[in-house]
Amino acid sequence: MLENLKEQAPDKIIELIGLYAADERADKLDLGVGVYKDAAGNTPVMRAVKAAEARLLAEQDSKKYVGLLGDLSYVDAIRDLVLGDAVPAERVCGAQEPGGTGAIRQLFELIRVANAGATVWISDPSWPNHEAILKALGMKIGKYRYFDAATCGVDFVGMKADLEAAQAGDVLLLHGCCHNPTGANITAAEWAEVTELALARGLMPMIDIAYQGFGDGLEADAAGVRLMAAKVPEMLIAASCSKNFGLYRDRVGAALIISKDAAGTALSKANIATLNRLNFSFPPDHGAKVVSIIMNDATLRADWAAELEEMRLNMLDLRQGLAEALRRETNSDRFDFIAEHRGMFSRLGLSPEQVMKLRADHAVYMVGDSRINVAGLPKDGLDKLAKAIASVI
Ligand code: LMR
Repeated sequence: MLENLKEQAPDKIIELIGLYAADERADKLDLGVGVYKDAAGNTPVMRAVKAAEARLLAEQDSKKYVGLLGDLSYVDAIRDLVLGDAVPAERVCGAQEPGGTGAIRQLFELIRVANAGATVWISDPSWPNHEAILKALGMKIGKYRYFDAATCGVDFVGMKADLEAAQAGDVLLLHGCCHNPTGANITAAEWAEVTELALARGLMPMIDIAYQGFGDGLEADAAGVRLMAAKVPEMLIAASCSKNFGLYRDRVGAALIISKDAAGTALSKANIATLNRLNFSFPPDHGAKVVSIIMNDATLRADWAAELEEMRLNMLDLRQGLAEALRRETNSDRFDFIAEHRGMFSRLGLSPEQVMKLRADHAVYMVGDSRINVAGLPKDGLDKLAKAIASVI
């Protein structure tokens, strides 16, 4: 039977991890997968996470099942973190999911159950796994223009024009902040416009928010989502703690489902609980419990927020430094947009050939579409990278 299995094309982001590891050049630079690194190139466990884990180890007295929706104190904390007071709690059903990817997968399945014919509209480009999961589920995919290659900003006119083709009942997938892979984000005014567009066309908004706190700050990064959530009758949100709590391998995510009323919330709860049961039964507890401990302890929470802010400012600093180095090396303002982009990623607008040349000649690893993980840059690597880029363009 197993001979019937087909070869699988590797995920382009995950593939890079192996390629980079196999490269023996000492001065190699890993700007691939979205993992935060400090100035020393390490991805340390956050201070508040360490403290919460120690408390958990000391106090946990059972490993029995928690519940199909996971730890509800965690779920409430994520609801508040993402939505603030934009929506009354009785309209929000939350479920713990294995990572942001797990939340996305579960919400796509929920959409398929609710409206099998719905087209899910994703940005072009988007995080590649959006399209891959939708394809695996046999769901319809629509794409809207998003990135303006000329300005490396958002093509908002193109985005709106393409969404004219969306039908009532379709899903509009947006990145809550820190767009992956481009780093270009819609403004507050554009969030308001997209909200009106979704309302006018009867589209269900779905938000993937995996980088809250990495862009303009914890509150600012959720502002667009909250603005929209306050106005639409229904909305789906996939949140991740991989990056802002540094809990990558522990798989900590949440699905939030906003319904019209409390009856809708009960129905959503029953359905997402069933989907969890069908796919993995109970979500993994450890990381979610750690987040719950942090969010419900004023001291740990403040320390977590402070460390996250340090990380955010470090990324902004790197953006500024790289834009300046590229200005110097290329004698142009072509790459000034890097300082305007937000989050971990920027799409540089290089050709696949230039990306491969950077890899072959300079041991610089970025995704084939020229997405760099800004947080992968050591501060003393800015000049090297700028020189390498200048030499291939
Ligand atoms: C990324 O885009 O690099 C991260 O979200 C990690 C991943 O799973 O792709």
